[in-house]
Amino acid sequence: MLKYNSTYCKRSVRGKNRTRDLAISQNRTEYFPRTVRYVDYLFTPNWIEFQAKGDLVYLHGLGNSVLIVNSLSSVQELFEKRWNIYSHRPIFTAVGELMGVDQVALMPYGEEWREHRKITYAALNPRAVKAWHRAQEDLAAIMIKDILERSDEFSRHIRLTASRIVLYIGYGVFASDMEDPYIEDNEETMDIIGRAMTPGAFLCDLISILKYSPSWVPFQRQIKKSKEVIDRTVYQPYIDVKDQVERGTASPSLATNLITAGDSDPEIEHRNTWAVSSLYGAGTKTTASTVHTFVLAMALNPAVQKQAQSEIDNVVGTNRMPTISDMPNLPYVRALIKETLRWHPTRIIQSKITIPRRTAQDDSYGNYFIPKNTIVFPNIWAISRETPDPENFDPDRFLGSDAPADPFNYAFGVGRRICTGVYLAENSVFAMISGILASFDIAPVAGMTLVPKFTQKHVSSPEPFECSITSRSSGRVELIARRATEVIIGT
Ligand code: HEM
Repeated sequence: MLKYNSTYCKRSVRGKNRTRDLAISQNRTEYFPRTVRYVDYLFTPNWIEFQAKGDLVYLHGLGNSVLIVNSLSSVQELFEKRWNIYSHRPIFTAVGELMGVDQVALMPYGEEWREHRKITYAALNPRAVKAWHRAQEDLAAIMIKDILERSDEFSRHIRLTASRIVLYIGYGVFASDMEDPYIEDNEETMDIIGRAMTPGAFLCDLISILKYSPSWVPFQRQIKKSKEVIDRTVYQPYIDVKDQVERGTASPSLATNLITAGDSDPEIEHRNTWAVSSLYGAGTKTTASTVHTFVLAMALNPAVQKQAQSEIDNVVGTNRMPTISDMPNLPYVRALIKETLRWHPTRIIQSKITIPRRTAQDDSYGNYFIPKNTIVFPNIWAISRETPDPENFDPDRFLGSDAPADPFNYAFGVGRRICTGVYLAENSVFAMISGILASFDIAPVAGMTLVPKFTQKHVSSPEPFECSITSRSSGRVELIARRATEVIIGT
């Protein structure tokens, strides 16, 4: 085992040999040119390479310390047991300080963060999410009807459904399509934030003094324009719900509850507004990506698909769609969802917005010294590979007595910063996936080879792909149409 202590770390960082950096591994020490490797990490990070280097990989360069944690046991030790050190977020100068994004996911650990979590938890805790079952099932039913009518646009229908769910819960809104102004604004905002958080996008994130550059400097002008879009996205829907509350026409939603609670203190209103808006940013692409990964996996694994369909046929029957309350009785479908989250977790290391942490103080782990303000990434992808034959899509691995770690314990994060939306997300994904399985057969397009490839964006999902989606029978077509007439949301 490599002895990696604070003296050694300081020597490697401050010593004469400033052109080299240290990667630490449990098995060996490796040196590589600091700038090349660090820049390499910034622009083309390769999480497979990081995992191959061992349990912990430490990079230092351009004034930044970065630690990548590659195993579940170390992630649990650091992020869960030492939550008081590992629950901060990095300081996002461009997005946070200059664009004014005040979202819970980017906040340092502390009182303000706790207040934001409290607000969203009111709508997203295990008991509260039951109130959204019907809405989620209705929105899944609309998605299935839309896929039946335009199966070539399945990707759009999935994205629209994920967006509709959070807009409905947040603001009581039923978005008609992807051109809905709330969706367009939110998508633009997410693109802005995603691009701005890509390391290297704004030099002020690396050299923070640059944040004081005058307003005519091009990056400051760009930030000003971005801030206008972000503010409109965050405030407009909340203002609209306020109007509806005054007119007595507001639908039940998190915003409606907060507004009717009647605290008009500007600071509290600011907090409420940002807390509600965090649902879209954190909950749409992640949910849609998981369902896309499922569709891809089904096209590639016909035997798994058949087994899940036959479980649904046996348990639910053929006269109704599955509901969220069927979940406990469908163990194979549940295992399939876990396998989807494991096979390709949406938040993986190559996307910096796997939302890293920042150490609140110096720490040591084994023989390793971890300085204060180190940016720490839990390598969710590496953890998802801690099982035999990890590239094989096999839900059965979760049904035996030697099942690997449950992806619900890492794909949604760990410790105090664990995903606030996990219970809602589980239900959304189940409603969408079980509905698709009950209704359609998914296969590769005849004559085309389907190769799984995934985007390297901040929320990683399958690259656009085509597949054949056909209804399972004429009885299923009737059921899809009948269920769509029973939808009460948006009517
Ligand atoms: C399949 C869907 C989803 C996945 C895979 C997912 C995954 C994650 C992950 C990995 C994190 C980082 C946690 C950490 O730092 O340890 C996170 C944070 C977060 N997620 Fe999710 N998420 C999903 C859906 C949702 C939904 C539906 C919502 C809300 C409606 C949501 C709200 C949040 C929020 C607010 C945070 C920030 C928590 C904090 O920093 O305190 N997520 N999510």
